[in-house]
Amino acid sequence: MDKSENKPAAAPAKSPAGLEGVVAAESSIGDVDGINGVLIYQGLNIHDLAEHATFEETIHLLWHGRLPKRDELDALSRELAENSKIPGEVLALMREFPRNAEPMDALRTAVSALAFYDPRARDLSREGALATATRLTGQFPVIVATIERLRKGLEPVEPKAELSLATNFLYMLKGEMPSEREARIFDVCLILHADHELNASTFTARVIAGTLADVYGAVTGAIAALSGPLHGGANTNVMKMLLEIESPDRAEEWLRDALATKKKIMGFGHRVYKTEDPRSVWLRKFSKEMGEAKGETRWFEILETLRAKMFADKKLHPNVDYYSGSAYYLMGIPLDLFTPIFAVSRISGWTGHILEQYANNRLIRPRAEYTGPRDVPYVPIEER
Ligand code: CMC
Repeated sequence: MDKSENKPAAAPAKSPAGLEGVVAAESSIGDVDGINGVLIYQGLNIHDLAEHATFEETIHLLWHGRLPKRDELDALSRELAENSKIPGEVLALMREFPRNAEPMDALRTAVSALAFYDPRARDLSREGALATATRLTGQFPVIVATIERLRKGLEPVEPKAELSLATNFLYMLKGEMPSEREARIFDVCLILHADHELNASTFTARVIAGTLADVYGAVTGAIAALSGPLHGGANTNVMKMLLEIESPDRAEEWLRDALATKKKIMGFGHRVYKTEDPRSVWLRKFSKEMGEAKGETRWFEILETLRAKMFADKKLHPNVDYYSGSAYYLMGIPLDLFTPIFAVSRISGWTGHILEQYANNRLIRPRAEYTGPRDVPYVPIEER
């Protein structure tokens, strides 16, 4: 055979590393303007949502393309509450998880198992997928709170139907009602993390949904993607960094040493934002407020010292993961729950994108630029 026949007819164009700048889907859900630092969900500016909306209104916005009317919001809140119960079989399975399991792994495994007990799991119609989205969004806070309770040897706390997702989560976690202010701060944190266009976990979810696998499969994959330290795992690592630095007067020296060893500083940098991440404006405010409320301002002081130095030295801005951890920490939430909390919010965006993918699906199947050899002869095993 002529060797040229083995060559691909048209070599795929070289892709930028990490698909930087590649437009891989059409979506009306959210947009990131990385130059001007603007984030919108279905046309609404994130600042307006953080100022005025609730997480439940945001979920409706992401799934239906507009803010809900009063009766629609009441219906959604009711459905989320009615669907929040975890099947007994999954709860029994969760009781068997190792006490030292990573909460993101526990969440991923529980969500994957939920598919067994949802008779509509494979119904990919808009109505069926929306029903699954509602179940998962209602169940996520319950699952994460249950993970925390069980590993502490405590019984899970039943959610209260009349509470918002944010308040319920904090209530189930500790078994006591949060203050109104803490619940509102947490609610805004959920709004801020709900969607972010084609980030790694959302892209993962769309790729899986694009094969017409079910919502549980797509969400399970998305949880795995979110768990990595370059994505949702960064919030936990920022708090670990603050604990390591310990005191504001050590911050500059710590950073100098870290940068000298080419360490990536968690919570800084972003593939899309070349200016300040608009979400971090709110989270900075909450980190400061929580520090003052709890009489523990050193974490915020360290954060501000590092921020000034990183900008001066590297022209890098904080991202969404930079301030959130310190606010959660001061609410008494364990470090390894920060990324699961990200998932409690992002499930709304993931499912919005999954619904959008199903509604106008084409298998997502790009090409790779082949860099290996060609025409390599097969050598029998004895002769290698
Ligand atoms: N610390 C130190 N240097 C950095 C950092 C950082 N956090 N981020 C970027 N840089 C430098 C990097 O070394 C590179 O410099 P040079 O051109 O001299 O080699 C330049 O900035 C470009 O960085 P990159 O790694 O090519 O950028 P990327 O678009 O591939 O990565 C990122 C984006 C977010 C993965 C990266 O900034 C990073 O690793 N940040 C730390 C982890 C983090 O905070 N992740 C959360 C991301 S936002 C929320 C989310 O997705 O959950």
